[in-house]
Amino acid sequence: MGAEPSDSISAAASEAEAAADTAVVAAATVEELRAVESTVLGKHSRLAGLNQGLGGLPPERRRAAGQELQGARARVREAIEKRRGELEVDERRARLDAERLDLTELVPGAGRGHADLGRGYVHLVTRTRWQLEDTFVGMGFEVAEGPEVETDWYNFEALNMPPAHPARTGQDSFYLRLGEPESVLLRTQTSPVQVRLMESRQLPIYAVVPGRCYRRETPDARHIPTFHQIEGLVVDHGITFGDLAGTIEAFTTAYFGPAIHSRLRPGSFPFTEPSAEFDITCAICGGSGCRTCSSSGWVELGGCGMVDPNVFANVGIDAKEWTGFAFGFGIDRCAQMRHGLADMRALLDNDIRLLSQI
Ligand code: DAH
Repeated sequence: MGAEPSDSISAAASEAEAAADTAVVAAATVEELRAVESTVLGKHSRLAGLNQGLGGLPPERRRAAGQELQGARARVREAIEKRRGELEVDERRARLDAERLDLTELVPGAGRGHADLGRGYVHLVTRTRWQLEDTFVGMGFEVAEGPEVETDWYNFEALNMPPAHPARTGQDSFYLRLGEPESVLLRTQTSPVQVRLMESRQLPIYAVVPGRCYRRETPDARHIPTFHQIEGLVVDHGITFGDLAGTIEAFTTAYFGPAIHSRLRPGSFPFTEPSAEFDITCAICGGSGCRTCSSSGWVELGGCGMVDPNVFANVGIDAKEWTGFAFGFGIDRCAQMRHGLADMRALLDNDIRLLSQI
């Protein structure tokens, strides 16, 4: 005797349910699961087909078989939802992993092929400043600093440059809207720190003062409006012009090497008397003459001289007891000379090829 039709439906339902469960678990993505869902529960699924077979059952069996089919469908639907939940979690995790950005990651071989790409470098001007400081410290100087915003008194007047002094016009200033008009400015030179040191320190003084200065200048190959100077100041008993010349020469060979020498030419600065301009052997041609040095073999580096008695008087130092010398020159110009930069504006360009030179 064959199985009752309702029994065969329930056996087929169990079979369809088991097959559906296997397919649901095997679905590897939400997309695949959607396809499985339509195969096992859709209009053309085995369970749907069995449902249609219910009509052929005697009514007393139909109800039980119908409930069984309904139970099977409900369990399959539940299995699908459970699997969907798992797959959604997996896919979200995979997407986050794929989109993760490692901000500390190094990219070997990228860019210019540096294994250490991404490391910062000290700017050429800063490095030059440190090298200059080291050289002077090695010669017995201390390193001091002063403010970049100055009063007219320190920047000009105490340095023997009264308001109508012609040397002021050579140092076009950035004034700040503070106090009386034209009384506060961005310093045009590091020389005001000489005055501050003489006011505040015990004598003797052997100091260098590196720092940033500002002038209203249109940038060109040899000038930039924000530049750097290093100032030197010595005040002691019995200091002579010979000490100044010897110090400049000792510095020049210590910093630029034994092939480079210094020479002094008569000059004029309000805060020194006598004053001199100091030149060094042109580093580009080694002194034989080239375009950079206008065929002279020398390039101007800065100014210097014996501290003017008027400056001593402004800070209350007795010029009969003490003498001193001062000098000042451009740090950017030193960097330009030592590294053969044709155009000083390159120092402000932030071109990575210049910034990454060691
Ligand atoms: N401050 C001067 C300038 O910017 C440079 C200078 C010249 C400084 C002579 C000095 C000095 O200390 O004695 O042009």
